[in-house]
Amino acid sequence: MSAPNGKSVVVSGVGSYTPPRVLTNDDLSKMVETSDEWIRTRTGIRERRIAAPDETTSDMAAKAAAEALADSGLKAADIDLLIVGTVTPDMPFPNTACFVQQKLGMGKVPAFDVEAACSGFIYTMEIARSLMLTNGYRHALVIGAEKLSSITNWQDRTTCVLFGDGAGATVLSLVDEPGVGILQSLMGADGTETGILCVPGGGSASPSTVETIERSMHTIHMQGNQVFKIAVRVMCQSAVEILGKAGYKAEDVSIVIPHQANNRIIEALAQRLGIGMDRFKINLDRYGNTSAASIPIALDEAHRNGRIHPGDLVLLVAFGGGLTWAASLVKWQ
Ligand code: UT7
Repeated sequence: MSAPNGKSVVVSGVGSYTPPRVLTNDDLSKMVETSDEWIRTRTGIRERRIAAPDETTSDMAAKAAAEALADSGLKAADIDLLIVGTVTPDMPFPNTACFVQQKLGMGKVPAFDVEAACSGFIYTMEIARSLMLTNGYRHALVIGAEKLSSITNWQDRTTCVLFGDGAGATVLSLVDEPGVGILQSLMGADGTETGILCVPGGGSASPSTVETIERSMHTIHMQGNQVFKIAVRVMCQSAVEILGKAGYKAEDVSIVIPHQANNRIIEALAQRLGIGMDRFKINLDRYGNTSAASIPIALDEAHRNGRIHPGDLVLLVAFGGGLTWAASLVKWQ
């Protein structure tokens, strides 16, 4: 994917925020019929973070964004474009990005949300990159933020053990240098699988009523087994395809930042790619699945812990409700 005018879009800052409240597997075993052992062996998750009742998705997004701005050395006023990936907006509208813009005291720049579930961050990053290359925006704030606890059915053991809250952010910058930063991205979706992972109520199909609430239709519904199988397939296909398109081999990848849904999905990906688990960033044990926030939170941790160096090839790969999938290959600056 050659960029016009010899320009590239690089990651110039990374940040994240996770709420302080920790919900452990043992805590959950007091709420539903489950156990630490079941959750750990089936998913790898030990604990997750839960936002305060009055803490919104945009509150978390703004905190992660402030960190990313500090990391980049830029100010909110330098940002020309703001996009938030989320399935848990503060409100159906206005979009969450507008709340973030207000909280950061930013200029009146374009601000909108992207809804691609757990693939949301990579979708958001690719939309920002394309707009920067075509419209000349110099710096974009790209955020993945979720308050999944607000759409979790805390009586459903098949889903409530999986999810957590948090936000991750990156600053993207346009540079006059070809072949650096985001080298290649891909996005895909299979709309024939909308029913296996969704929040069926509260939208135009079933507006909220007493009955939809009583039936918990405003919470996450998932056929875990089905999602698992497709996840392994599309994650592997996406990783292989993006490496092939960019002319790299799996062994060239310095670190993989996969969507943090389930250790077993990540292990299957590692095996198919022939990349050791030591080259995968995993933090789902501490945060669970935070949907669109999962990749940028993991990216921020890897960056801050010194696991990513200039010149490294970083592979981001995700799948999520839709079903959607996406991957991005980044040459770190
Ligand atoms: O970002 C995308 C979001 N979604 C995902 O990533 C989900 C992908 N899927 C998964 O990660 C896995 O399918 C799960 C972790 C959700 C479930 O693991 P599984 O190995 O596919 O288990 P299962 O659904 O086949 O259930 C096995 C058993 C069932 O009991 P029976 O029918 O065998 O008696 C479940 O009722 O485990 C039972 N079960 C539980 N037991 C204790 C389901 N949830 C729990 C639980 N604690 N929390």
